[in-house]
Amino acid sequence: MSKKLFIETLGCAMNSRDSEHMIAQLTEKEGYEAISDFREADLILINTCSVREKPVSKLFSELGIFNKKKKPGAKIGVCGCTASHLGEEIIKRAPYVNFVLGARNVSKITEVLHKDKAVEIDINYDESEFAFDDFRTSPYKAFINISIGCDKACTYCIVPKTRGDEISIPDALIIREAERAVDSGAKEIFLLGQNVNNYGRRFSGEHEKVNFSELLRRLSKIEGLERLRFTSPHPFHMDDEFIEEFASNPKICKSMHMPLQSGSTKVLKDMKRGYSKEWFLNRVEKLRAECPQVSISTDIIVAFPGESDEDFEDSLDVMRQVRFNQIFSFKYSARPETEAEHFTNTVDEEVASDRLTALQSLNTEIVDEINATSLGKTYRVYFEELIKDYFVSGRSDNNIVIKVKGSDELLGEFRDVKITSIGRTILTGEVVA
Ligand code: SAH
Ligand code: SF4
Ligand code: F3S
Repeated sequence: MSKKLFIETLGCAMNSRDSEHMIAQLTEKEGYEAISDFREADLILINTCSVREKPVSKLFSELGIFNKKKKPGAKIGVCGCTASHLGEEIIKRAPYVNFVLGARNVSKITEVLHKDKAVEIDINYDESEFAFDDFRTSPYKAFINISIGCDKACTYCIVPKTRGDEISIPDALIIREAERAVDSGAKEIFLLGQNVNNYGRRFSGEHEKVNFSELLRRLSKIEGLERLRFTSPHPFHMDDEFIEEFASNPKICKSMHMPLQSGSTKVLKDMKRGYSKEWFLNRVEKLRAECPQVSISTDIIVAFPGESDEDFEDSLDVMRQVRFNQIFSFKYSARPETEAEHFTNTVDEEVASDRLTALQSLNTEIVDEINATSLGKTYRVYFEELIKDYFVSGRSDNNIVIKVKGSDELLGEFRDVKITSIGRTILTGEVVA
């Protein structure tokens, strides 16, 4: 009988891809089978995120529950970004944890599994020339890493400390991985990296200097590949070549994530983001001029240390000017080993909450107005998921989530869908062709 694996994945898409790789390695090399109830598992893995404080405290309470209710003899492993930054401390605080595996060391999962109390968290470890396994949780869409780590030093962010410096994965490896995914049925490829449009800055070995625009051109030649998406591009690296390639390449989906973080040039400087409010607005203008149908999403942090009422007003001003299609908004959370952790001009908790509420209600207003204009329009949808009440959902090219009544016959298929009713996060429609 096969051994059972339970894995919980927190955090971003890079963690999801790391989990897919660990599942594949444990299945192929160690005979595990993934299950959804941790109480029956022989191995419990938690793939953690430490980008904000909340998930870290959640980790220890969750580990306690795993330990209390797990099957006798079951092992517990802590992986991902919190593993990288807390390391041995995890075993000190939760001595029943069997091993700790950092976000930059996932290729070692089958090694640490057999070393009790192993702590493998080397952020200089080079996984860039190592092929990720082909196993994927979705057969329709393939996530592919194009770089590891991050070479920026945003003063609020812990990621460079958990994933190390940025190294690009050789384009030949990426293209082969994409070809295999398309051969096995995926029509959409989703490229992942902390700063995808900084691709090609540094490879670990001798490689042809391919930049992100060239990588996109090469990938889009793959026959059978219909859609190409990526996240996250960095506003600082949005040069004209990149925007023009984005706009003119028909396989690239017309939805762009542009993480603003703040609309205030002063706060952006304190965050060390490398661009100003004007540069950001200029890039949006260029993007919309080249590609009028583009939808734009963003990340915004409120109440960064020193953010005044006027600075916050600048964030709202950018929102009003750009009218983002989607916003991920966060209250600033001080993180260990970051520069901003030592900034003393912190913003009052109550002010922070009020700002988050104000920002989110402006966003709701804008998104409702944008969504209302979709009624009666027709979009080409790629269906990916069965959802409750006999609906199937998918995305338009410009990333609108749309559902229609239907069955699994629609999964992995493209259809033209006319929008018949509007919701805030999902639109409903009917297949017209
Ligand atoms: N490399 C990506 C971001 C990865 S982290 C980029 O630069 O866009 C995802 C998001 O988490 C960030 O965009 C930021 O908005 C948010 N974030 C990161 N650190 C944070 C912190 N200390 N407090 C609050 N939000 C944070
Ligand atoms: Fe963090 Fe900045 Fe790197 Fe994004 S670019 S991962 S926000 S340091
Ligand atoms: Fe991702 Fe969280 Fe790490 S956002 S890079 S899993 S800190």
